[in-house]
Amino acid sequence: MTYPNPPLSRRQMLAASAAVVVAFSAASCTASPTPAPTPAGPAPTASDPWRPVVHLTAEKNWLNDPNGLVYHDGTYHAFYQYNPRGNSWGNMSWGHSTSKDLIHWEQQPVALEASLEEEIFSGCIVMDTNNASGLGSAGNPPMVALYTSAYGKNGALPQGAQAQSVAFSLDQGATWQKYRGNPILNLAPTNNNFRDPKITWYEPGRYWVMTTVVADAQVVKLFKSTDLLHWDYLSDFSGAGAQGGLWEVPELLLMDVEDSTAKKWVMLLSINPGGIAGGSGMQYFVGEFDGTHFTAENAAAPDAPLNESQWLDHGADYYAANSISGAPGDKPVLLGWMGNWDYAQHVPTTPWRGAMAIPRELTLVRGAKRLELRSAIAGAARETLERPGEVKSKNLTVGSSQQDLGQDFTGRAQMIELDMDLTSAREAGVHLRQSADGNTGLRISYDKETHTVKVDRSKAGTTNFSEKFSPYHEVTLPASDNTVRLGILLDSSSVEVFAQDGVAVISDTFFPDWDATGSSAFSIDGDTDFTVRTRAL
Ligand code: FRU
Repeated sequence: MTYPNPPLSRRQMLAASAAVVVAFSAASCTASPTPAPTPAGPAPTASDPWRPVVHLTAEKNWLNDPNGLVYHDGTYHAFYQYNPRGNSWGNMSWGHSTSKDLIHWEQQPVALEASLEEEIFSGCIVMDTNNASGLGSAGNPPMVALYTSAYGKNGALPQGAQAQSVAFSLDQGATWQKYRGNPILNLAPTNNNFRDPKITWYEPGRYWVMTTVVADAQVVKLFKSTDLLHWDYLSDFSGAGAQGGLWEVPELLLMDVEDSTAKKWVMLLSINPGGIAGGSGMQYFVGEFDGTHFTAENAAAPDAPLNESQWLDHGADYYAANSISGAPGDKPVLLGWMGNWDYAQHVPTTPWRGAMAIPRELTLVRGAKRLELRSAIAGAARETLERPGEVKSKNLTVGSSQQDLGQDFTGRAQMIELDMDLTSAREAGVHLRQSADGNTGLRISYDKETHTVKVDRSKAGTTNFSEKFSPYHEVTLPASDNTVRLGILLDSSSVEVFAQDGVAVISDTFFPDWDATGSSAFSIDGDTDFTVRTRAL
């Protein structure tokens, strides 16, 4: 397999019969001399059919939010909400996995384990390079975790209370000690929904800024610190965007505005329920941060229709995403949980439950009305995904019918790039994980008249585990001509559709039959020209 260098234009790429799959972003692909590492973790089998191939899962048991995402000394660390004792939510602890490339993960011992006194809810990790906390030494600076203590019986605060605590590691994240002075940040009066600390460095003031939530009051609370242990209140952010549920896992990010020298602050915020696809979802705000206040610009009013808010993903399964502290590159790299609190506890996987989405990098661009985020597969992950195997490519015209894509496009996990030109058709798309009789499959389509991309999982396998497992999700793209490009990352129990090079993403879990591995293209009310490229994963 050779890689184009310099990158081909989109037109050249369409013309190339055996073009590469470019991993759903405008970024160039580069060859890497290093061979692909051996996949870590279990592979899908007929008895564990929904085990992802390229997404992070725990070998067994429940996981939800990613926590403590940090890159240090060439290793990515993902800590996460984890139940060491069962396959549903409870005994919340921090699990731990490490990776060199954001695709192959190696599970590590549990980092912070729940006790009767305290469960370990979501939070973050930074490298305290200057040992400002004093928890390490100049020669061996600590990794510092800020997490939410959710108090049980005989804890430092009354049962049910939530406050922020510190833990630290002096051996690159392998083992952790809790700080003696915990909790380091509590509200007065004590609150039962004060959680999810995430911190960012504010260079003009040379201090750390922490975002947290009072989840049931739909408020983000900001604090500052120079030593990670003592935190002073700065301000509240509230009264904008979707309000229909708990506000959780906030993050403030400083981002470059593409094609300009400007920078803007972006607030990521998870909401549950009340997301754009039903249940859990992630909204964001773009604005200014002056060291004390975050002010959103062009934000939807709290009572505005949901589609006026800005959403990081329009599928049902993308939640609690936050950035990897210290990740290489100049764009934030996010890891999110591919789950939805509406039904995550009931999904039919065992002995594990819960997976992370593909790591994504964000870009901030000028949209038609306001600044908007674009998502792409993160560079490190992309390089690995593009390495193994051969790219199969096919051009075809389909007229008011369905056409099998053939042997090259069968498979349980694939990275597909689909260019469709709906010359005379009204709607066109593909069925993936289709059964041999054609009766079941995941349907991904584009409607030319409404400029809408839709993912329909209603006939894509097992759905009866929850009445709240919503059947389909859609997003309206900016109007374009007849063409649409979809980057589709298909794994054993999930699909992530990057529309028009990341203008919008739909991430959905689904639970297809093991034997359903076919793919077909369809066109409705006229002709569609397809260029399909796939890489088996
Ligand atoms: C978000 C969340 C967080 C909390 C954690 C508990 O999914 O509810 O607010 O810290 O999960 O597992």
